Amino acid sequence: MPATATRTLAAQYADTFAESRERFERAKGLFPCGVTHDARMMDPFPVYVSHAKGALKWSVEGHELVDYFVGHGSHILGHSPADVVRAVQEQMERGTHFGACHDSEIEWGELVRKLVPCAERVRFTGSGTEATMMALRLARLHTGKPKFLKFHGHFHGWHDAVTVAADYPYDVQPVGVTPAAAGQCVAVPPNDLNLVEDALKAHADVGAVILEPTGGHWGAVPIRGAFLKGLRELCSRYGCVLIFDEVITGFRVSPGGAQAVYGITPDLTSMAKILAGGLPGGCVAGRAELLAYIEPRAGKPKMRHPGTYNANPLSAAAGIATLKRIATGEPCAKANAAGRTLRNKLNELFAARDWNWIAYGDFSMVRAIPNPEGDRPPAATGDSDGFVPFGGDLNRLDGAKNMKQYYALRQAMLLNGVDWWGYAGMTTCDHTDAVVERTVRAFEASIEALRAEGLG
Ligand SMILES: Cc1ncc(COP(=O)(O)O)c(C=O)c1O
Repeated sequence: MPATATRTLAAQYADTFAESRERFERAKGLFPCGVTHDARMMDPFPVYVSHAKGALKWSVEGHELVDYFVGHGSHILGHSPADVVRAVQEQMERGTHFGACHDSEIEWGELVRKLVPCAERVRFTGSGTEATMMALRLARLHTGKPKFLKFHGHFHGWHDAVTVAADYPYDVQPVGVTPAAAGQCVAVPPNDLNLVEDALKAHADVGAVILEPTGGHWGAVPIRGAFLKGLRELCSRYGCVLIFDEVITGFRVSPGGAQAVYGITPDLTSMAKILAGGLPGGCVAGRAELLAYIEPRAGKPKMRHPGTYNANPLSAAAGIATLKRIATGEPCAKANAAGRTLRNKLNELFAARDWNWIAYGDFSMVRAIPNPEGDRPPAATGDSDGFVPFGGDLNRLDGAKNMKQYYALRQAMLLNGVDWWGYAGMTTCDHTDAVVERTVRAFEASIEALRAEGLG
């Protein structure tokens, strides 16, 4: 399978993944773009996967791939860990949906409360998108202020108002969203507390601040503790609800998420992905006073919250088995160590080959991007102290992509046995040193192939 310099990447890719292409031909007329999630769009066609285990997955052609999509971030124990599989199988026998309260939802909620510092109360939802929607609605009810503030490049799902400024270019009206809905959102660039304070002064009707606490698009433009501390202070001073969107970072960066690492307690937290052990599910956790708006109370409005799949028994079973392992601290520590090793080894490779590429990131989240300046970062020694390229410049770290290079890198990495998420990837506790080493060799071969095509 390894890419060779004699044929173009696109030609090798088309041959190597011919059975995926056949499936894509069927899917094209069925799904818009032939895919079921925007992030799976791929030029000329995506790879179809038949099964996965640990850090690996296999294409329908039988090619083994090291996985860095890890279920869009929903796996930290690797694919199909035995205890999670067993818990889900056993639950399947007992029933998938009782349309009733059940023991597992209590156990699942208690685990969330035990692990997540802000979690006085918990409410399960069907997804991360539903969780951020709920958090913002609770904040609106509590403060009586209709608007919220978010940051450029921060992704909070796809309900109307949060799509504002989620992707570059940040200043365009989100497609399909009414101006009234988009107008609920005030968006500013990250990492500048003065800009936040100016916005809060200018918009007295902002009642919530929401962010991805390690940076938008899971750390493309890293955020660190000092900014979070400043935001906490500003929110308290201006009467705003602080919402950490820990849909990705929750149970990943540490058992208690980013809030536990940085010691900053938000008022509300949205979570999903690892929460439900790779099955669908989300939750909002936070101050009792805020979640109380879901309860009927004399003289207070009650926010409705239905949702067929809230705390469904299958997701609860997977979530409980996963969070029990998370509670030991070992999976997060291993995944973080794998991320750090990969960043360091990639930077060693780029220096050794004198290639203008750079790896950076925090915790188990890794980015490898072209680096025209050729700066060499110092070795990363901790989970959240890594070098930030280009002085943290938003437009350079999260701005327009060279899509030709982006897809060529994906093709090359797939040909070299790695499913790498464009310029980024996430690790699990199953990304062992051997898996990381294999990834570094795949990068070496892939960048060589890109350079041969004038794209590296
Ligand atoms: C930070 C963040 N918030 C919210 C969401 C939306 O979650 P879901 O895809 O479960 O709706 C995502 C999804 O990737 C996310 O990364």
